Amino acid sequence: MYRIRDWERILIPYEQAVEELKVKLKSLRDEFREMNEYSPIEFVTGRVKKINSILEKAKRNNIDEDDIEDQMEDIAGIRIMCQFVDDIYSVVELLRTRDGKDLMIEKEKDYVNNEKDSGYRSYHVIIRYPVQTAFGEKEILAEIQIRTLAMNFWATIEHSLKYKYKREIPDDIRKRLMRASEAAFLLDREMCEIRNEVINAQILFEEKSNTISNIVSNIRLLNLLGQQTEAMKFQMEFDELWEKGSLDELEDLLKKIKVNIARYQVFD
Ligand code: GTP
Ligand code: MG
Repeated sequence: MYRIRDWERILIPYEQAVEELKVKLKSLRDEFREMNEYSPIEFVTGRVKKINSILEKAKRNNIDEDDIEDQMEDIAGIRIMCQFVDDIYSVVELLRTRDGKDLMIEKEKDYVNNEKDSGYRSYHVIIRYPVQTAFGEKEILAEIQIRTLAMNFWATIEHSLKYKYKREIPDDIRKRLMRASEAAFLLDREMCEIRNEVINAQILFEEKSNTISNIVSNIRLLNLLGQQTEAMKFQMEFDELWEKGSLDELEDLLKKIKVNIARYQVFD
């Protein structure tokens, strides 16, 4: 029977799922950062597949329009970018701890260790995700792609070329893409070798900038509490330290300021 499908309406829960998953994954990243710990998640993006791409893919894969929602796994798509290949597997572990809680893992595809013929690498986790709508609960499928920045760079460029050449990339360009994929692989491997160096430097930087923001806002608070002389003294101490001071010295200064504030702060 012929009937009109209201795709805009069908896609509403998918929009909601993408928004929710983005918030949840970004919160994970922020939690690590707030605890001054290394986050395996660098950044997260998401999108709902456009109606024309849904219909085009259904046609290409011989999917009946009625089966699209059950068979097309990437109507809701989330991308998690990592700095290092090892981080991909940490993120997969994080997702597995959520399995059966707020999401259900349907399947995993490891194109990191088994790259595709095109040269494509990424780790895919297909999940079922319950969305609470005005008309009750609806479970949808979503595809989470987890990849390094190098893998993402390659996939983005290859995707635009595939689009430009309507999926028939000329041989010479395909060869170049294969070489570029190899180069991205080597870049990821080199970065892995210096991973700990990089991570330590990033954590130190993060801690130092957190401490500095804390010092600045606490000096301001002391000033607001009417302790201008004390505030000025700490400000001068901070000016001496902020460029060349070690993290330890900065943390000592922060402690001193906080002790001072505690003396003047009046609660309730
Ligand atoms: P489609 O490839 O989308 O038809 O789905 P599939 O069921 O074959 O699943 P697969 O895991 O192969 O691909 C799912 C998604 O991964 C795609 O929609 C792309 O986003 C991405 N992907 C897979 N292969 C490639 C590739 O060769 N190049 C790029 N740029 N992305 C790819
Ligand atoms: Mg495919």
